[in-house]
Amino acid sequence: MDAEQKLFQAALLAFNRAYAPYSSFRVGAAVLGSNGGIYSGCNVENISFPCGSCAEQGAIAAMVAGGEHLIKTILILADSQELITPCGACLQRILEFSDSQTLVCLADTRQIRRTCRLTELLPHAFAAKELKS
Ligand code: THU
Repeated sequence: MDAEQKLFQAALLAFNRAYAPYSSFRVGAAVLGSNGGIYSGCNVENISFPCGSCAEQGAIAAMVAGGEHLIKTILILADSQELITPCGACLQRILEFSDSQTLVCLADTRQIRRTCRLTELLPHAFAAKELKS
């Protein structure tokens, strides 16, 4: 099984475990770190709606807790006819742990439907480099 298929399987498992009783829209995400590790997450909603979290957020938190800070590939999976792309806040979260090669795979429950670079989805990102100087 290649890396993208492993990511797909990890995201599908997370998708099936997602907690989305309010929107009924489950999302799974899986990250391949530059160390080869795979980390997954799902959306977790809350009766106090703003307390909910996105699938990408969970996968990135798991990656950081695993000691990894560079996303090679992230796969986002939802059961949707439309191609699902990460929300704006999650694009920014992915960016924090990305480089110019970072790939984003967009999938439904059957297959990966599109793979692109993060820079394609977030071409004019806030540049934190300026904060560091
Ligand atoms: N959601 C994600 O998990 N990731 C995104 O990038 C967009 C939206 C979740 C949040 C909420 O639980 C549900 O999808 C509907 O917005």
